[in-house]
Amino acid sequence: GGIAHDFNNLLTGILGNACLSRGELSGDSTIRPYLDRIIASAGRAAELCKQMLDYSGKGRFIVQPINLNSLIHETTPLLELSTSKNVTLTAHLAPQLADVDGDPTQLRQVVMNLIINASEAIGDRNGTITVSTGVRHVDRACLRQCHLCPDLAEGLYVFLEVSDDGCGMNEETLARVFDPFFTTKFTGRGLGLAAVLGIVRGHHGAIKVTSASGRGTTFTLFLPVREKAPALSKPLAKAQPAEPTWRANGTVLLVDDEEAVRSVTARMLKNLGLEVVQATNGQECLEQFRVGPERFTAVLLDLTMPHLNGQSTLREIRRLRPDVRVILMSGFSKENASLQFDQDRPSGFLQKPFKPDDLRESLRAVLGD
Ligand SMILES: Nc1ncnc2c1ncn2[C@@H]1O[C@H](COP(=O)(O)OP(=O)(O)O)[C@@H](O)[C@H]1O
Ligand SMILES: [Mg+2]
Repeated sequence: GGIAHDFNNLLTGILGNACLSRGELSGDSTIRPYLDRIIASAGRAAELCKQMLDYSGKGRFIVQPINLNSLIHETTPLLELSTSKNVTLTAHLAPQLADVDGDPTQLRQVVMNLIINASEAIGDRNGTITVSTGVRHVDRACLRQCHLCPDLAEGLYVFLEVSDDGCGMNEETLARVFDPFFTTKFTGRGLGLAAVLGIVRGHHGAIKVTSASGRGTTFTLFLPVREKAPALSKPLAKAQPAEPTWRANGTVLLVDDEEAVRSVTARMLKNLGLEVVQATNGQECLEQFRVGPERFTAVLLDLTMPHLNGQSTLREIRRLRPDVRVILMSGFSKENASLQFDQDRPSGFLQKPFKPDDLRESLRAVLGD
């Protein structure tokens, strides 16, 4: 994630400054098309960056309510492309499936990886892959048969099952399927299930696999049913209509170790009518915050910083002032970050790189109108 992290900070500077310049142009400026092209290119570069991180199973953590049935429906065309003609894909999706909290990109990746493996296990023969969903009460006994179970509570889980009638696995293979780089395929990379496991862990879920040589394989994924109280104080800003005239007042504490990110973000905040106090790391942030916790309307906090990272900083400022609004800016983190904010959830997330509009919407969602 190191290089992608640096790239993303650079893109934040490029995209943000290009957007700010465009905002200053007069209507008939001949420079506009060039800036539009820079903005479009920066957007594409950001997409590429994300793809690299999706592949490694790291980085994105836009947590939102997800209906796994819809996710499977959306992914079906892609799934049909990645399975061969001799494979029949069937679905048994429970009606009115409860939502889970998750990252759609990562969960799509999980479904893809499981289906591709199932298709490869069927090989050239005719076979069937069945995808099922539902809600199940999961007890200790069931959890004990799962990977990643130790700390999970008994209770209601949404399950997603991918079943195939392919070659199956013997005991030795079964014991190692989730090991990174373990593969039995000539051209395999052995990373598909390792990524699946990482993503499931990040979602506080569990995964079970049953298989026998010659008799097919079933992977069952359990994800906690989404609690009714929303994880974030408000739904993510994306869902809200654009409100280009929204402005705010007050002071924002802006914390990022990267100068390019700070300067462009500070300018965007000032354009919204906000005062800005900057800090270059978590330690400085806390020093500023301790001076007067009440003077900040919001804190804009980078996740990945040396010394005191965003998560620890967040915990400390919440201890000093429990109701403070904190928007976490995500570059990319080494671990599947967000999903570890159990007690101290940020009030909002802002994915880097962002445009002035994204920042405004994210603040509006957190501060209200
Ligand atoms: N549905 C399945 N049926 C049989 N074997 C499987 C299945 N899914 C995974 N495996 C076994 O697990 C190994 C690791 O899978 P994976 O991590 O996706 O890596 P790769 O597909 O590159 O080998 C596979 O090589 C295969 O031996
Ligand atoms: Mg695979």
